Amino acid sequence: MSNPLRDPRDRRLPKVPGPCALVVFGVTGDLARKKLIPAVYDLANRGLLPPGFVLLGFARRDWGDGDFEQIAKEAAKKGARTGWREEVWQRIAEATKFLPGSFDDDDAFDQLAAMLKDLDASHGTGGNAAFYLSIPPNAFPTVLKQMERTGMADNVQTNSWRRVVVEKPFGHDLASAIELNGLVDDVFTADDVFRIDHYLGKETVQNLLALRFANELFEPIWNSHHIDSVQITMAEDVGIGTRAGFYEGTGAARDVLQNHLLQLLALTAMDEPVQFDAAALRAEKIKVLDAVRLPKDLASYAVRGQYDQGWLAGERVNGYQAEENVAAGSTTETFAAVRLDVDTRRWAGVPFYLRTGKRLPRRVTEIGIVFKKAPHLPFSKSDTEELGANQLVVRVQPDEGVTLRFGSKVPGTTMEVRDVAMDFLYGEAFTENSPEAYERLLLDVLLGDAALFPRNEEVEASWRIIDPIEELWASGGEPELYRAGEWGPKGADEMLARDGRTWRRP
Ligand code: BG6
Repeated sequence: MSNPLRDPRDRRLPKVPGPCALVVFGVTGDLARKKLIPAVYDLANRGLLPPGFVLLGFARRDWGDGDFEQIAKEAAKKGARTGWREEVWQRIAEATKFLPGSFDDDDAFDQLAAMLKDLDASHGTGGNAAFYLSIPPNAFPTVLKQMERTGMADNVQTNSWRRVVVEKPFGHDLASAIELNGLVDDVFTADDVFRIDHYLGKETVQNLLALRFANELFEPIWNSHHIDSVQITMAEDVGIGTRAGFYEGTGAARDVLQNHLLQLLALTAMDEPVQFDAAALRAEKIKVLDAVRLPKDLASYAVRGQYDQGWLAGERVNGYQAEENVAAGSTTETFAAVRLDVDTRRWAGVPFYLRTGKRLPRRVTEIGIVFKKAPHLPFSKSDTEELGANQLVVRVQPDEGVTLRFGSKVPGTTMEVRDVAMDFLYGEAFTENSPEAYERLLLDVLLGDAALFPRNEEVEASWRIIDPIEELWASGGEPELYRAGEWGPKGADEMLARDGRTWRRP
């Protein structure tokens, strides 16, 4: 059957993984229902899953294969990006299995090991399996030990490939990350470990690499001679919802800054990789992360905030302290902004300002490159009053695309120059919709392509940057309140004002 989602003129062959099972631990959780199962359906719908594919759920539920299939179907229908085709789901349904068990249940893991072997005979999986750990970090050691005990993580013993996918948070500081990495590495070989930072699966984030390294235009000016500063913003309008259990004591810096924002910084600042593969990309990113320097006066350049009640989209919303299951007097930050410098020849003197927060006016993620002003203007001061700095803005989401801001003559008899914007919009330039980040990353796991997955060293280097900030905050004081629906606490504006700058209003 031909695939209606593919353009028949497209001669590029899509890469389809070899036969395998995807084993999801914690399959009843939010991530599995909202992201993973819909991604499996979308991949199948795009013809990107192999014939010998099995979806195997593992959780502490009294379910049979049919119950799981029904729940998975509902999740896929609700979260699918591509249109619903019953016949596609039917094919997945026929190869959906469920294994009830708790993580300390030896019998359940023995059964799982045997099942993975049997699936080769019954479904032609070749015995291959990817284990997705969509579980709380404190359950990692138990599950990993079970895998080691049963030999199910061993490529040689099982005569197949076995991979593991680990979701963030990768620890809560450097020491715990090293411990966790050690645990995973004891059971799986390094090449078989895939750490998910879903920002790397976003098309627009990958486009940053295309923009920089496939063009001649930008790279020659991508340095401190021409760039004044870089601003990376990840703003969300949502609050923490029902996630207090995870978010309390984690906060914005550990939840987002340590991973998504530092990865965006690394991709923005890195040198050209010798080729587009995992080893070369990671080598360049790690150089940047290792060169990151925190300001001497950290207290003035690491701002934290917590949302107070306010108005968002015409609706009154609670402050953080009034959210379900948040401890009274909690000092967990829901907003974090920092200045970082990258101590390399390319970036000497160029500050990178990073900020993230919940309950900000709208959901937007962008990387703003702010250029220096022209060294000389042959126009009168009054004619250039409304001319700002040139900016290149990579809009990660929503309105995926790139904006270039530059000065242009205002029509008329004077030589007035004002800022204008030139826009590239994914939605307009391409007919194909961007795949979801999880779709792309799941496919890469099954293909064994690790280019978009951070490795241990990156995770550890990122904690080395975040730990001193967390230590400073833990030593006293509390986050500054900001009203829901505003762009964070005043301290964030003051931080930039101190450097003679202002935040872009995305
Ligand atoms: C997750 C964080 O990693 O990213 C969440 O844990 C956050 O707190 C989410 O809401 C945002 O992802 P996206 O893709 O919607 O920007």
